Amino acid sequence: MKKVLVVFGTRPEAIKMVPVAKMLKSYTGDFEVKVCSTGQHRQMLDQVMEFFDLQADFDLNIMAPDQTLADVTCKVLKGMEEVFKQWKPDIVLVQGDTTTVMAAALAAFYQKIEVGHVEAGLRTGNRYSPWPEEMNRMIATQLATIHFAPTETSRNNLLREAVDPGIVHVTGNTVIDALFEAVKIMDSDPGMIKSMQEKFSFLDPAKKLVLVTGHRRENFGDGFLQICRAIKEIASRDDVQVVYPMHMNPNVRKPVNEILGDAGNVHLIEPQDYPSFLYLMRQSYLILTDSGGVQEEAPSLGKPVVVMRDTTERPEAVQAGTVVLAGADKENICKYVLQLLDDQSFYQNMSRSINPYGDGKASWRIAELLKNQG
Ligand code: UD1
Ligand code: UDP
Repeated sequence: MKKVLVVFGTRPEAIKMVPVAKMLKSYTGDFEVKVCSTGQHRQMLDQVMEFFDLQADFDLNIMAPDQTLADVTCKVLKGMEEVFKQWKPDIVLVQGDTTTVMAAALAAFYQKIEVGHVEAGLRTGNRYSPWPEEMNRMIATQLATIHFAPTETSRNNLLREAVDPGIVHVTGNTVIDALFEAVKIMDSDPGMIKSMQEKFSFLDPAKKLVLVTGHRRENFGDGFLQICRAIKEIASRDDVQVVYPMHMNPNVRKPVNEILGDAGNVHLIEPQDYPSFLYLMRQSYLILTDSGGVQEEAPSLGKPVVVMRDTTERPEAVQAGTVVLAGADKENICKYVLQLLDDQSFYQNMSRSINPYGDGKASWRIAELLKNQG
């Protein structure tokens, strides 16, 4: 039996790794699976695990208020070493580009343990955008011994960096597995939908819902000021309501609360559990975000996305026309959002439902590849 340790630490990693962990656990004769949470996030991570009913076998519990990148790196590196003393896996699976990913992969390398990288090969080509994620994923590429690329584009990025093509596999993105599973759970539970309708009864059905999320470090400072001022201007329209589940990073909350705290038509709310956020995405008219995962989910729900970044490592949806890059620039953000609100043909062109990121079977492909790896 192959011993597999599935590692994650933040909200998006959990969303994208739960389907992988569950799939591997269902191969009872092939894998012995354990789950390790670094606890880089706490409340935002626990929400995901609770909804999908997955428990961690190891929890490094490293989160501390407003800690630095070096704090996170050191704690993960040391904490993983302790886990490997207790249970030595044959392979460690990490997902994406957070500091948990980079440090856990390095810790595995130090023990000469194989590393599988899920969502491998995303690149913007700019080491400071997103920061530090672009560097984290480049380091993860060097440490990985098998790469699960979500798309052909990401596979080609790896081949361009001279990664052995024999260890790069296109699987689709596991976020679509998570999305389909969550939609199935929600749609089969009328009580859940009803409780969400009650929870969000403050929404005015006569107004268009603009859903906002944001947390990128390269936008801290001036970027977030521009974003908040843009939201304030957009919300000054009577036909619009803004809902903004605020990321828990204090560098996000401060400007958001200061600029939007008492703005009309703006609802600042706590981070939502995954089904509640999906409910909001489905109710929304458009989405304004700098999130990676949301750029992948929204096209499959047919929602136009205005991305508040200068670069994206997810060009597939931009090419398909459902995502536009506005930068963290007030004028540009307002320009795109107002066009989507007022120009029906522009809106129709951007709101087509497409699935460039997967078919919901990425976790199954990953499990089969690991099983046949020998
Ligand atoms: C992290 C990842 C980023 C990922 C994002 C997803 C790094 C360096 N950054 O950014 O790549 O896109 O998660 O959301 O790996 N906090 C809480 N409770 C939580 C989570 C965060 O209070 O559940 C607060 C704490 O004060 C914490 C701070 O937010 O110190 C920053 O958290 P951290 O994980 O370092 O970075 P994020 O900005 O969340
Ligand atoms: N999400 C959530 N609740 C929220 C906001 C986002 O469950 O209040 C989900 C969203 O659907 C997506 C993921 O969290 O799957 C994105 O996480 P985040 O934006 O924190 O990180 P990124 O994807 O940018 O790394």
